[in-house]
Amino acid sequence: SAKYVADFKVWRGNQEGGGLEDYRVAVNEGEVVLDIIHRLQATQVPDLAVRWNCKAGKCGSCSAEINGRPRLLCMTRMSTFTPSETITVTPLRAFPVVRDLVTDVSFNYAKAREVPAFVPPEGVEPGAYRMQQMDVERSQEFRKCIECFLCQDTCHVVRDHEENKESFAGPRFLMRIAELDMHPLDAAHEAGLDRKRTAQEEHGLGLCNITKCCTEVCPENIRITDNALIPLKERAADRKYDPLVWLGNRIRRR
Ligand code: SF4
Ligand code: F3S
Ligand code: FES
Repeated sequence: SAKYVADFKVWRGNQEGGGLEDYRVAVNEGEVVLDIIHRLQATQVPDLAVRWNCKAGKCGSCSAEINGRPRLLCMTRMSTFTPSETITVTPLRAFPVVRDLVTDVSFNYAKAREVPAFVPPEGVEPGAYRMQQMDVERSQEFRKCIECFLCQDTCHVVRDHEENKESFAGPRFLMRIAELDMHPLDAAHEAGLDRKRTAQEEHGLGLCNITKCCTEVCPENIRITDNALIPLKERAADRKYDPLVWLGNRIRRR
C-alpha cells in the first residue's frame, strides 16, 4: 500500500514504571515496524530506547512485543496490519525493563552458563570426529538459533510465573541440552554427567507441558517442541517403566 499515517502505542518507562504513549507516524511502502520506531526517534521522541543491530533478522536484538505477541521488530512488516489498525509495541514481558523497549535479558545468559558444555570423546582428535549426516542435520536445525529469546519470553512457565525462573531453563536452553544429549560424540555420560537426569532435576524439563508456544514464535522456524523438547522428554522418561526402552535394552544386551 502507499504512504499513510499509522496510530502507534509505544510503552515508555523504566524499572519504576511507565505506560503506553500515543503517536501518529508516517509509514512508507515496504517498511517494517523497526523503521517506524526509528522514524519516531528521528522526528518525535529522540530518547526512545530500542535495541537493534542487523535489521535483517539475524542478530536477535530487536525482540519486543507487537500487539501482545513476541516478535522481531525488524522482521514484522507493516503490511501485515491494516492502515486503520492501532499498533501497540511493548517490551518483552518476561524480563525486567531497562528503559522503554529495552529489557534486561541476562536471565538467559545465566541459564546458558548452567548447561555443561560438549564433552569431547576420549582418544579422538578434534579433526577426526565423524558423524552421520542425519546427526549433523539435527544439530544444524538447533544451531539456527539467533538467541532472540522470543521463545523464552512467550513460554507460560515463566511468562507469568517469576517464581519458576529459578528452576526452569526455558525452551532455548532445554533445546541446547537436547542437542548435546542427542550428539553422538558427546561423552558427558562417560564423564559422569547424566544430561537426561539433570534436564529433569536441574533445568525443569518436567515443567514444560508441550504447549508449543515457543515453536510458534521462533523466527528461525526451529521445531523446538517436536524436535528437541519431546525427544528429550522421551529420552529422560524413567526407563524402568517404559516398555519400549526396556525391550530395547534387553535386545541390545544379548
Ligand atoms: Fe529465538 Fe528460536 Fe532461538 Fe528461541 S530458539 S531464542 S525463538 S531463534
Ligand atoms: Fe514452554 Fe515450549 Fe514447553 S512454550 S511449555 S517450552 S513447549
Ligand atoms: Fe537484528 Fe532485528 S535488528 S534481528
